[in-house]
Amino acid sequence: MILVTGGCGFIGSNFILDWLTNGGESVVNVDLLTYAANPETLASVSTDARYAFERADICDAAAMAALFAKYQPRAVVHFAAESHVDRSIHGPLDFVRTNVLGTATLLEAARAHWKSLDADAAAKFRFVHVSTDEVFGTLGATDPKFNEASQYQPNSPYSASKAGSDHLARAYFHTYGMPVMVTNCSNNYGPRQFPEKLIPLMIVNAIAGKPLPIYGDGMQIRDWLYVSDHCSAIARVLEAGRPGELYLVGGDAEMPNRDVVHTICSLLAKHRPGTDYTKQITHVTDRPGHDRRYAIDFSKIERELGWKPSESFASGIEKTVLWYLQNATWIAHVQSGEYKQWVEKNYGARA
Ligand code: NAD
Ligand code: TYD
Repeated sequence: MILVTGGCGFIGSNFILDWLTNGGESVVNVDLLTYAANPETLASVSTDARYAFERADICDAAAMAALFAKYQPRAVVHFAAESHVDRSIHGPLDFVRTNVLGTATLLEAARAHWKSLDADAAAKFRFVHVSTDEVFGTLGATDPKFNEASQYQPNSPYSASKAGSDHLARAYFHTYGMPVMVTNCSNNYGPRQFPEKLIPLMIVNAIAGKPLPIYGDGMQIRDWLYVSDHCSAIARVLEAGRPGELYLVGGDAEMPNRDVVHTICSLLAKHRPGTDYTKQITHVTDRPGHDRRYAIDFSKIERELGWKPSESFASGIEKTVLWYLQNATWIAHVQSGEYKQWVEKNYGARA
C-alpha cells in the first residue's frame, strides 16, 4: 500500500480519487484535518476496502512511527502542507512548523521504516515530495522558464518553507541514499479547491454577487495546470521517476490574473446567464512581495517519463466552473466560521 499525507486537501483528495479509480493499490490517508481539509470530498471512497484514513499531525514523530509500523507502506506521497501564500504573510510560523518540521519528521519516520526493510523492498521504496515552482522565486517578462537547474530563490514565507522542505528531501537522498524524488508544480486549479486561492475564490464570489478582488494591476502571470494532470504526473514519478531527481511539472498555460478572472466571468455568463459578472471586478491593494511571473519548462518529465498535460486551460477552466456551479453544498460546507474570519482578515484591510 501507499501512504499519502494531506489527502483531505485539494490536490491530495484528487490524487486519491484518481488513484483508486485507476485501479491503484490500497492507500492510507494521513491528514490532520486543518481548515483546508474537507473529508466530505472523499465520502465516495470511504467504504472502499482499499482506503483507510488516519487523523494525525506530520509533526508528531511517535504518531508517524506508529503509522509506518502499522501500514508498512511501499511508498509515500507527501502533500500535507500549509499552502496559501497570503496566510503565510499573516502567520509564517505555522508554515515553518508544518512544511519544514513536519516534512523533517515524516522523512525521519520514513527513513526508520525504509531501514527496516529487506534489501529488495528497500530498493523499491519511494518517497515523493510534492512541491511548488514558487521555490524558484519570480521571473521577468522575457526570462526563460524555470527548469530543474533553476536557482532556489523563494520570496514568501510559504515558498521559503517549501524550499526548506525540498532541501531536506534532497538531503535524505544524498546523505542516506533514501529513494526520494521531488516534484515542483505550477499553480493547480480544478474541482474541490478551497476558495481562498484565486480561481475558486473568484468563482464562488461571482456566484454569490460579491466583489472579485484582483491584487494590484492583475498583470502577474501564473502557469495553470488542471489538477488531474498534476496527479497523473505524480503517479508517473512514483512509478518510474529516478531517485534523487527533481521533476518540474507545468501546464503550458501562462496567463495574467486579469485574463483568468475575465475568463471565469465569461464562462459564468455562458452557464449562468443574466449577470455581467465583470462588473463585480475590483482592484485591491497588492500582496506584499508579490511574485510577478512563474513559468515552467516541463521537458524533462515529458522526455524521461512521457508525461504531458492532457487538459488545456480552456477545457479545464470550463470543467472547473461547472463543478462549482453543481456543488453548492460543498461550497457552503467549506465556508465555515474560520473561512469568514480569514476573508475579513485578508480583504478587510485592503484598499
Ligand atoms: P491544501 O491546503 O488544499 O491541503 C493541505 C492538506 O494538508 C489539508 O488536508 C490539511 O489538513 C493537511 N495538513 C496540513 N497540515 C498538516 C499536518 N501538520 N499534518 C497532517 N496534515 C496536514 O493544499 P493543496 O493545494 O492540496 O497542496 C498540496 C501540496 O501540493 C502542498 O504541499 C503544496 O505546497 C503543493 N502544491 C500546491 C499547488 C497548488 O496550486 N495548490 C501547486 C504546486 C504544489
Ligand atoms: P493564489 O491562488 O493565492 O496562488 P499563488 O499565490 O500561490 O500563485 O494566487 C494566484 C494569483 O492570483 C497570485 O498572483 C495572487 C492573485 N490573487 C488575486 O489577485 N486576488 C486574490 O484574491 C487572490 C487569492 C489571489
